Order: sequence, then structure tokens, then C-alpha cells
Amino acid sequence: MKFAQFLLKNGSVSGIPKQVERFAKFSPSPLSMKQFLDFGSANACEKTSFVFLRQELPVRLANIMKEIDFLPDKLLGTPSLKLLTSWYSQSLLELIDFLERDPDDKEVLKSFTQTLVNVRNRHNNVVPTMAQGVVEYKEAFGVDPVTNQNVQYFLDRFYMSRISTRMLMNQHTLIFEGSVNPAHPKHIGSIDPSCDTVEVVKGNDSPRLLHTHRCTLSHVINTLISFTAKNPGQPLHIVYVPSHLYHMLFELFKNAMRATVETHETSPTLPPIKVRVSLGSEDLTIKMSDRGGGVPLRKIERLFSYMYSTAPSPVHSDNSRNAPLAGFGYGLPISRLYAKYFQGDLQLYSMEGYGTSAVIYLKALSSESVERLPVFNKSALRHYQTSTEADDWCMPSKDPRKLENTRQTQNR
Ligand SMILES: Nc1ncnc2c1ncn2[C@@H]1O[C@H](COP(=O)(O)OP(=O)(O)O)[C@@H](O)[C@H]1O
Ligand SMILES: [Mg+2]
Repeated sequence: MKFAQFLLKNGSVSGIPKQVERFAKFSPSPLSMKQFLDFGSANACEKTSFVFLRQELPVRLANIMKEIDFLPDKLLGTPSLKLLTSWYSQSLLELIDFLERDPDDKEVLKSFTQTLVNVRNRHNNVVPTMAQGVVEYKEAFGVDPVTNQNVQYFLDRFYMSRISTRMLMNQHTLIFEGSVNPAHPKHIGSIDPSCDTVEVVKGNDSPRLLHTHRCTLSHVINTLISFTAKNPGQPLHIVYVPSHLYHMLFELFKNAMRATVETHETSPTLPPIKVRVSLGSEDLTIKMSDRGGGVPLRKIERLFSYMYSTAPSPVHSDNSRNAPLAGFGYGLPISRLYAKYFQGDLQLYSMEGYGTSAVIYLKALSSESVERLPVFNKSALRHYQTSTEADDWCMPSKDPRKLENTRQTQNR
């Protein structure tokens, strides 16, 4: 049963399908870093932000809710997905409740901020809950390439939508709650207008984390950091969300350390993890290289797959900071989404038998850092309608001897 039908039948949240249709007709409006900064500058106006968000948040929610509807029925039917869709419906209703309210009324603004906090909290466990739904589906029905492709396409968009709505809600609540973050007075909400990327690399506490989880380990991995800028002496600052960068680096460090420790278990010393940060006129690039044995090329794509992730059920894992080095297999795909969110990327280059380099690309210029958002339209719809078709590249013969036989026959 489709999500909309399910809601209709259950009658739990009446009117929801209509509202989803209504708001999904609009495309989300991506914001640039500049716009984010303007919303939080000295002449920041809570009213403007309110008027924008009470429309934009429902639009972003409704666009992704339309896509939820195209998931396989068996996935939508899992208890996890039912729970998750009820959160989305509830939040959509709470937000659209503000459309008719008076922006000049201080009480309205206050209650809107409180609603944003409630919505954010309600959605705290969206990632593990969705992951749990995928595990339930996988256990019951297995994985096939078409479902994997659909789920991959959907989850990249779904989690990206979530990153974006959290960003919007965080900015509004942080900026208009009235208090300045004493540790970072220059930050605009969660954005650091001059984020020192090298400091974020240095500030990563994953070496300590590794130590606590590998008590038997008598040696610590060294991290060697080097950096260059196009202009000598230029600091490696960009306008960015430090917590997003921290998240990506933390995941990459964990992976690099785990690979290093596991491939050098018996050796007395561990090869260092090298990080290079480089600022050009277009890109700020961070490369992390380990000598952890690498991954064969054939497997690289799978490392970013939500469905093929081999990790066990995520329900009982704590939040990632307390979790052991092996997470539930979403470290790389979610980190790549953070990088892509402001038009960057994250790629892995590996040499099997030696090691891996993970590279984070971010935009050096704030004018190019614009949100990358999914929109539900005909092209998106086409992705969900892919059927099993024959591959348009020849499959190598499974039995090479057959080939020899043919040749022999031909030569005769
Ligand atoms: N630097 C690396 N060297 C070797 N293998 C890696 C590296 N980074 C990631 N991997 C492989 O990719 C898998 C997926 O990584 P990730 O998405 O972070 O999930 P998790 O760490 O939770 O398994 C890891 O389990 C590991 O097998
Ligand atoms: Mg990991």
C-alpha cells in the first residue's frame, strides 16, 4: 500500500495527502552561503526568516514525501517506515499550521521556533530508523540490483533533504534564540564565515577514540598534516559549516585507522595517516591517505551503497561519536552527502595491496557554495520506474574454456 493510501485508509492524519500534493508542486529554493549569512547578519530579521521557512520547509518535506511513495511497497510496509512516515506527516502539519498566522505577532514567532525544535527532535532518529527499515526489507526479501539502485537513488536524496531541512531549522533557532555562542562569537548559526579547515583536521579527536577502543594497542597512529595554498602564506579559510566538515573527517579518520590497525596487527609500528589540505581558486581539497591495504576497484562503489552495506542492524548502536570504529556502514555515503550539500564531493581512490586515499572537495568560494537539493519532478519519477533490462555491455563469459573451444572450432 502506498504511503498516501495508507494514511487515507488509516485516517490517522487526515488531509495529509492533499497537503503533500499542494506543497510538492513547488520546487525547493536552494540557498547560497551568502543568503545564509545575510539571514544571520546584523540586520537579521526573524520575521523574514519565519515567512520564508513556513513555506520552504513544507515544500522540502512534501517533495521528499512524494518520493517516499515510490519506494517498494514491501519496504514501505516495514514498521520502521511506518513510524518514519508518521513523523513526516506530523511535522508537515505542524509547520503548515503557521501559514495563516501573523508574522508581526511576537508570540507566533516564539511558538514557531519551539515548533522547529520539536520537529528537529522528532526527526533525530530518522537515519537509523530508515536504515533499520532497509535491514528488515533485506532480511525478508533479499537484495536485487534494481531495488538496490532505487533505494540508493532515493536514500541519497532523502538524507540530503534531511541535511538541508536540519540546516534551515538550526540556522533559525540558533540565530533567533538571542544568545551568542560564547565559544564562537563570529559564527552565524552553525556557519563559520572563516572556517580554518586545517584546525578542523587537527581538532579531530578520533586518535583518542581509537585508543579507548583498542586498549591492547601499544602504539598510536601518527597523523601527518601538511597544507598548501595557491598564494603562499594565505590561510586555508572558507565559509563553511565546521560540524559538517568535522563529521566527514571523523568518518574518514575512523576508516583509515581501522584499515591501518587491521592490516598491521602484527607489526610493531604503524604507518602514519597523511592529510593534505590545499586551497586553490576553485576548490578546497582535503586528501587523507592511509596504508591500510586498500580496497579492490570492484568493491569501491559498494562502499557507498546503503543496501549492500554488510554491517549488522543499526538499531542498538549509539550515536556515532560513542560507537566503535565500525559503524553501520553509512559513514561514507552520508559523508559524501555532506560534501555534496554545498556542491562539493567525496571520492575514494584505492590501491589494493597498499592503501587508500579519500578526497573531500569543497567549494573555495562562498558564491559557489549553494545548497544542492532534490526536487520531485518527471526526471525523478523516471528513476523509480526503471525495470530490469538487459545490460547494454557484453558480459564476460563465465567459463573461459568455452571461448577456447570456439576459437579452436573457428581455426579448424
Ligand atoms: N580507508 C579504507 N581502507 C580500507 N577499507 C576501507 C577504507 N574506508 C572504508 N573502507 C571499507 O568501506 C566500508 C564502509 O565504510 P563506511 O561507510 O565508513 O562504513 P563502516 O565503517 O561503518 O563499515 C568499511 O567497512 C571498510 O570495509
Ligand atoms: Mg566507517
